[in-house]
Amino acid sequence: MILVAGSANLDFVVRAQHIPAPGETVLGQDFQTYPGGKGANQAVACARAGGVSTHLLAAFGNDAFATPIEASLQQAQVVLHPVRSAQLATGTAFICVSEQGENAITVAPGANQALRPQHLPPLQGFSHLLLQLETPLESVCAYAQAAQQAGVCVALNAAPAQPLPPALLDALDLLLVNETELACIAGHAGSIVECLQGLQVPSVVVTLGAHGCCALHHGALLFQTAFPITPLDTTGAGDTFCGALCAQLSQGAAMPEALRYASAASALACTRAGAQTSIPEAADVRAFLQQQHSSDSAQHAALAQLRSFCGLPATTTP
Ligand code: RIB
Repeated sequence: MILVAGSANLDFVVRAQHIPAPGETVLGQDFQTYPGGKGANQAVACARAGGVSTHLLAAFGNDAFATPIEASLQQAQVVLHPVRSAQLATGTAFICVSEQGENAITVAPGANQALRPQHLPPLQGFSHLLLQLETPLESVCAYAQAAQQAGVCVALNAAPAQPLPPALLDALDLLLVNETELACIAGHAGSIVECLQGLQVPSVVVTLGAHGCCALHHGALLFQTAFPITPLDTTGAGDTFCGALCAQLSQGAAMPEALRYASAASALACTRAGAQTSIPEAADVRAFLQQQHSSDSAQHAALAQLRSFCGLPATTTP
């Protein structure tokens, strides 16, 4: 069983030709709402990956914005441990998605701020705890330390980026970051591999968008190139990766296999609109993986590019 503890937001989304620069107004298309929030998205991604029962600890306001998020979680068969705030509104996120599928997100945390250390449910039966940084850092640290003491594997997706206290890093088995988050946590501007090697977490995975991802897993560097897709909306793709990866690892998959599955799930999520609405079922991911037939030379070229992006020689052969 996996426990995700984190945020739940209602996403207010407008597509526009481009994301506005500071001071700029752009005319967009129709406005849509989608269930989102990094915690809730990652719980849905775990559940849709299949094979593992997924629970979510999240806080909501007493308002109508909570309803579509709870419906989406229920539809994905996520077991919800809700905290209700009488004072704070359900979290919201304001998202502009460009024609290229890139996004800019501003979150109003609202009730996500109400998640406190004492809200953690009993950890018996859970093998993994998955956390993010859209809820109070004090609670994230308390949950991570309680899970570590209980022998539960602790994974943190350190998003949105912020420096992490050493006590939190010490409690982690797995750290999941993008390039910006990695630089922020590593605290220096070295190459990706240098940043990974500077962290004392047993496994660190960095996602690198269209390049793919790289992991430093118990001292071994692993690379997974990205699957070629045309992105429609990248919102929730990182969450899909994190949830799918944890679901795979919790079922005993080896890290390379888990990275491949998570990359495929995340690639598919980029081809669909919204956050939770874009997260694929396991059958879709398996079918997508079976359709991948790139030539050896294309695979070698993509791997060389990924290695060099990470600061290594493009090839391991002399
Ligand atoms: O990672 C995407 C998510 O970030 C969105 O669903 C939004 O709610 C914010 O939490």
